[in-house]
Amino acid sequence: MSKNIAVVTGSNGGIGQAIVNSLLDKNYKVYGLDRENDIHHDSFEFIEADLKNLNALNDFSFNNISLGDYSLLINAAGIREIVPLLDLSLDTWSDVFSVNITAPFLLSRNFCRKLVAQKSEGSIVNIASVSGMLAEPERTAYVSSKHALLGMTKQFALEFGRQGIRCNSVSPAITRTGMTEHYFHDPDIMEKINRGLYAPRTGEPQDIVAVVNLLADKNSQFINGANFVVDGGWTCGKDL
Ligand SMILES: NC(=O)c1ccc[n+]([C@@H]2O[C@H](COP(=O)([O-])OP(=O)(O)OC[C@H]3O[C@@H](n4cnc5c(N)ncnc54)[C@H](O)[C@@H]3O)[C@@H](O)[C@H]2O)c1
Repeated sequence: MSKNIAVVTGSNGGIGQAIVNSLLDKNYKVYGLDRENDIHHDSFEFIEADLKNLNALNDFSFNNISLGDYSLLINAAGIREIVPLLDLSLDTWSDVFSVNITAPFLLSRNFCRKLVAQKSEGSIVNIASVSGMLAEPERTAYVSSKHALLGMTKQFALEFGRQGIRCNSVSPAITRTGMTEHYFHDPDIMEKINRGLYAPRTGEPQDIVAVVNLLADKNSQFINGANFVVDGGWTCGKDL
């Protein structure tokens, strides 16, 4: 029997690698898009890609990937600036928007084009953020792009749900990866983070994987257009 196919962007990142490994354990054939690769497995194929290269993504037709009856696209790549709003340059804004929203748009559109043409089903999971729900200091492009990603998730859900292609998002808060490692070495930042968490610990990639697996599952047919918050209570309220 041929394997189900999954395409994962940011496959070499903290959350991306954990997602890839979990899908490999579930016997998927996985294609990973990233700038770098440390994963070596018979059922894993690395596609070197710069997600800022929007013209290449516009033409990325999935034609070299034999998407089957049920396929997954996990948009996990993301970048985040920490720049005071008044110093935020057009270049930085554009880079963050390219990777965090335009790349997922182009890949998701092309993925749906292929699935619709071949009348097969699938699931798109966008790794968004609690920064798509709340503003944060010095992260204007990141926060804006993640808010856009939540909107785009609903749009794809609405446009393609009836054809059996679902689209959902997962919104993590502070999860220990390369993106956040420096926080863990700064007691002032950790003090602020722990004040906002209503959980005994920060997040780990496996916390995100658990929800991605639920959304990826073919049996989750009635879950569409949803945002699953995995944030240790970060957005549930604030201290008086
Ligand atoms: N770690 C957290 O606390 C946290 C919280 C909320 C949301 N997220 C989101 O989770 C997702 C994964 O983040 P992570 O924490 O694993 O970060 P990470 O930095 O470990 O991984 C990001 C991956 O994206 C890849 N990438 C970045 N720019 C790229 C480009 N131009 N072309 C190709 N690949 C590119 C990187 O090479 C890296 O492998 C991101 O979308 C991030 O915004 C993370």
